Amino acid sequence: MKDLAIRAIREAGKILMDNFGRVDKVIIKGDRNLATNVDLEVEKRIIELIREKYPDHGILSEEQREIKGDADYRWIIDPLDGTHNYLYGIDIFGVSIALEYRGEIILGAIYIPKADELYFAEKGEKAYVNGKRIKVSRRKLNQASMIFDSGIRLNSRIMLENLVRLSRRVFNIRMFGSATRGLSFIAEGKLDLAVKYHDKPWDFAAGALIIEEAGGRVTDFYGRPWSLKSKHYIASNGVFHEEIVRLLNK
Ligand code: IPD
Ligand code: CA
Ligand code: CA
Repeated sequence: MKDLAIRAIREAGKILMDNFGRVDKVIIKGDRNLATNVDLEVEKRIIELIREKYPDHGILSEEQREIKGDADYRWIIDPLDGTHNYLYGIDIFGVSIALEYRGEIILGAIYIPKADELYFAEKGEKAYVNGKRIKVSRRKLNQASMIFDSGIRLNSRIMLENLVRLSRRVFNIRMFGSATRGLSFIAEGKLDLAVKYHDKPWDFAAGALIIEEAGGRVTDFYGRPWSLKSKHYIASNGVFHEEIVRLLNK
């Protein structure tokens, strides 16, 4: 399954790079939420590869949603994370594939095609980028560079209040428009914190496991362990996690 995840995510990355700057069709899914023909093509290929090898596994994928399976395994896929960036020719985007076994995420892979960076973790087996072990940073809150969601669209009032509070405590705040890019930077210690409001399971299932295996911490805003049902989450290097929980609950 590890080999399949890596093969599928690399193929996905190739399709994305081959089509970068050449989107044919934009699909408006809802309030400021887009997909393109390339999201669909990549998703189709990943699902094809999984079903060839494991026809009884379940699949939860952003564009197709749920394909039920008889096995205890379920793949959770975001074929293109950062569609808005991709559509406008900004090369900050990624692919995310996670594998759930009886309700627990046991494998996570993120691929950032433009940088050719493949992040990978299996439960209990540490985290790696292109085969090299990675660890979260040890920076304190006042030295931390953080990601505040990926942009501000919905619930802007509460988000902006918290943005102001956080901005007084951290060193710097960024927004990349791609959950996978931000989470993978935290896992390898380039960034230190993410506060995310609107992500879906396919945005963070792989990234959360990779951060934990790199020594970091991921919880919801109340400090409870993350799950695929989490509506919001904090991902950090673990050094100042409780301070962020307190700050968001003031
Ligand atoms: C989006 C990005 C973004 C997140 C949004 C997602 P998409 O994913 O991951 O970082 O904040 O909630 O919808 O639509 O580009 O796969
Ligand atoms: Ca996404
Ligand atoms: Ca997507």
